[in-house]
Amino acid sequence: MTVSLVTGAGSGIGAATARRLGDRGDRVVCVDIDGDRAAEVADGIEHALAFTADITDEAQCDAMVSMAVDRFGGMDAVVTCAGIETMGDSLEFDPAAFRRIVDVNLTGSFLTAQRTARVMKAQGEGGWIVLIGSINSQAALPGAAAYIASKGGVLMLGRALALDLAPHGIRVNVIGPGVIDTPMTSDSLADSARREMLMERTPLGRPGNPEEIAEVAAFLTSDASSFMTGAFVPVDGGWLTR
Ligand SMILES: NC(=O)c1ccc[n+]([C@@H]2O[C@H](COP(=O)([O-])OP(=O)(O)OC[C@H]3O[C@@H](n4cnc5c(N)ncnc54)[C@H](O)[C@@H]3O)[C@@H](O)[C@H]2O)c1
Repeated sequence: MTVSLVTGAGSGIGAATARRLGDRGDRVVCVDIDGDRAAEVADGIEHALAFTADITDEAQCDAMVSMAVDRFGGMDAVVTCAGIETMGDSLEFDPAAFRRIVDVNLTGSFLTAQRTARVMKAQGEGGWIVLIGSINSQAALPGAAAYIASKGGVLMLGRALALDLAPHGIRVNVIGPGVIDTPMTSDSLADSARREMLMERTPLGRPGNPEEIAEVAAFLTSDASSFMTGAFVPVDGGWLTR
């Protein structure tokens, strides 16, 4: 049985991904800094465990992987959904906030991938790693320099890991969600002027829902995508086509 680990599983895209992988029969480790929300999601999945971890912390990442291996016997698929976003003018932006955003979104993705890939390599049967980037991995918007820089980094991290891990049969791909209706975007989507701006840039004219990202994550963590590695897959209602 496939063992999957999803970070940021307490909310939004991570929660939808954990449920989707659970629905196909995976044993799912639901990781989040908010352990209560991770536990709520895990409770709704047949074979799942919750684990509280800040993915910027190396020891906590090691502990989450050890727990997964101890309880479920291995590690096959990983989807890194944990992320944060703070908007702000670049001229005034707090360097500490910049560092934290890069730490969670980029370094946290690296630590999660590194720690889980070590297990996959030792198992010798390959594996799947999916990093959640963004349309902002390729396209900037005003007022979000830290987030955009971190997501640009996630795209190149995915490509670099794809090269490093290919000899071990571990495939690494990056999903680029567009505007998805989750707690992260609730303020933006509730602000009518900002919503209008975002939807004008989205050819399909609506926000995506987290399940539409989870479906692609399920594809990328399966043999259906067997010749894909190092790919960037926008799931964005057409945003990046303009
Ligand atoms: N919602 C969108 O429109 C959108 C668009 C593009 C990319 N994304 C990306 O998708 C991912 C998921 O976003 P979402 O919209 O579901 O957001 P969300 O805020 O609903 O969920 C993010 C989850 O990550 C967890 N988290 C935050 N910091 C963490 C840490 N240090 N360690 C462990 N867990 C942590 C939070 O507790 C939360 O449960 C993020 O990487 C985000 O940047 C979202």
